[in-house]
Amino acid sequence: MNTVTCVAPVNIAVIKYWGKRDENLILPVNDSISATLDMDHLCAKTTVTASPDFKENRIWLNGKEESMQNPRLQNCLREIRKRAQVSNGMENWKIHIRSENNFPTAAGLASSAAGYACLATTLAKLYKVEGDISGIARAGSGSACRSIYGGFVRWYSGSDPTGIDSIARPIAPATHWSEIRILILVVSDSKKKVSSAEGMKRTLETSEFLKHKVDKIIPTRINEMQKAVLNSDFTTFAELTMKDSNEMHAACLAAYPPCVYMNDISHSIVDLVHKYNDATGTIKAAYTFDAGPNATIFLKERDVSEFVGILNNFFPMSDLYLNGYLKGIPIKAALPSSD
Ligand code: ADP
Ligand code: DP6
Ligand code: CO
Repeated sequence: MNTVTCVAPVNIAVIKYWGKRDENLILPVNDSISATLDMDHLCAKTTVTASPDFKENRIWLNGKEESMQNPRLQNCLREIRKRAQVSNGMENWKIHIRSENNFPTAAGLASSAAGYACLATTLAKLYKVEGDISGIARAGSGSACRSIYGGFVRWYSGSDPTGIDSIARPIAPATHWSEIRILILVVSDSKKKVSSAEGMKRTLETSEFLKHKVDKIIPTRINEMQKAVLNSDFTTFAELTMKDSNEMHAACLAAYPPCVYMNDISHSIVDLVHKYNDATGTIKAAYTFDAGPNATIFLKERDVSEFVGILNNFFPMSDLYLNGYLKGIPIKAALPSSD
């Protein structure tokens, strides 16, 4: 019997991935850039056991057995098998996978990113796969390829139809920009009604605005963002982050029928960040929203306590942190993780 356990954190995109050019291989229509959180916060923990005594492959997610027929799981296993380095018979043993997230699953907090990055890492260790494994994580969930690396990461969309060049690469380690902090504001921990996969498919098929964003906005913006990160230029980084989030959600609203992920509290957070920035005369905070109502705020370490104070005045804790979720994760600014 062989057992491996790994932990992987979520990552939050500042230039979003929203649209696939290949649904099966999970190839995106544009490059994206994200920051990976440190391991102390939102994480997936996965244990994979291989045994000659197991009769079939099985998976439990958050304690509940799920189907191994999930095509994304099958994609990851197929990619792992292609690169496995074991030849002692273990490659034929059946496996049991157990994965737990320490935060809400499928609520727009990037559980698929942490989950599939963790699965790819754990399987890669078990089967002694070497080299870059971001493509294996990508085969489970696109955003997962970026959680393979710490700090600031770019997922290159690539152009090869096989997806061989659709991989993630670090842009800069977290230590490069050590004053950056990330706050995750949990507005709701409910499962989203429209998954990221369905939402981006519908948006790509029906939203004219998404085409405009992908063709006309992102090609310049992605390089500006990379430059802002490399120059530790918070004003530009923050402005581009907020614009990209607004444009992703505008594209979702322009889908038919519209995909609505943000709610009234999300919009109040947007207002508050703009008022805070206007009042201080500089851009001190930036918001971004994934496919859900929960906000991620980027700010500098020295501004965290001031911002959290203002936040608490406007949103009583109970509105932002649902009971039970934050156990063990106090309100605390997450650092982007290093490699
Ligand atoms: P999120 O915004 O949380 O990423 P998605 O709709 O993108 O939501 O993906 C949620 C799906 O990701 C879950 O329904 C599940 O299939 C998969 N997932 C989440 N966490 C894990 C995990 N730890 N291990 C394996 N799969 C996971
Ligand atoms: C809004 O990676 O969850 O978080 O590839 O279908 O699993 P699939 O989608 P997923 O989409 C993430 C969308 C996003 C933006 C981002 O993380 O870049
Ligand atoms: Co996801």
